[in-house]
Amino acid sequence: MAARKIIIDTDPGQDDAVAILLALASPAELEVLGITAVAGNVPLALTAKNARIICELAGKPDTKVFAGCDAPLTRKLVTAEHVHGKTGLDGPQLPAPQMPLQEQHAVDFIIDTLRAEDAGAVTLCALGPLTNIATALQRAPDIAPKIAEIVLMGGAYFEVGNITPTAEFNIYVDPEAAAVVFKCGTPLTVMPLDVTHKALTTAPRVQAFRDMGTEPGRMVAEWTDFFERFDKEKYGSEGAPLHDPCVIAWLLQPGLFSGRKVNVEIETQSALTLGMTVADWWGVTDRAENALFIGDVDAEGFFALLTERIGRF
Ligand code: RIB
Ligand code: CA
Repeated sequence: MAARKIIIDTDPGQDDAVAILLALASPAELEVLGITAVAGNVPLALTAKNARIICELAGKPDTKVFAGCDAPLTRKLVTAEHVHGKTGLDGPQLPAPQMPLQEQHAVDFIIDTLRAEDAGAVTLCALGPLTNIATALQRAPDIAPKIAEIVLMGGAYFEVGNITPTAEFNIYVDPEAAAVVFKCGTPLTVMPLDVTHKALTTAPRVQAFRDMGTEPGRMVAEWTDFFERFDKEKYGSEGAPLHDPCVIAWLLQPGLFSGRKVNVEIETQSALTLGMTVADWWGVTDRAENALFIGDVDAEGFFALLTERIGRF
């Protein structure tokens, strides 16, 4: 079976980095057409730099990396250095990337690629705020029916928010962009905190990366060591939730996950609940079921996949 064509839209971020490594370690199943950086965890200049660092760490310097939007559609950028550190990839020391950034703007790359490929050939994997994808949809509404599926890490319902009491970071940074994406009609699979908070690194799981004796394995362990201090402190959890790798794991082994097709709307007006993903979990409205909202994961199976694939480098 031909590899599934994907574009990864991302704001690296240690968990984005693990997701990108997972994708690049799976060429038989996933053809990464390009990686589009967006402002989020850290400003765009850093997310575009970090995306290239990760590609070089994976030994894939020919991967096309594009810089996209440096701010949300209408709001001021909110970043998350308190979680990811100043560089966005704090933890290990990493050399500056040698590979070039593509000249083309990420939004133009997304539009041109979707127009050039057959309908249903390309899946968008969104690991950060949805600014790039929403801008592409606004500029070229004709691409919406051509997208096979948008698989995104974002939102929360029963798990509530991680940046405000009601909002998850990726949605909160650009709620207007999220509203555009959730209304675009493309098949949506959503990995909210409800499921990513069940994909927790634990000491044995991190040790498995360290025991690989490879640079990628060491990096994943050291990124986790840094990244997990925030969640351990806040939630008293055993480890860090590997949010973004859930998006790629869905494409590789969807059977690891379970969820429900529901209506999800985005709060864009209320200051109190801005960025909330309002999931009609019990079907009490007649609003269209626009998203597969994932609530559960086989964590052991998820880490077995992650370890096996990262171990391939
Ligand atoms: O809330 C978690 C999400 O926000 C993850 O994608 C993380 O990388 C940050 O972007
Ligand atoms: Ca991210």
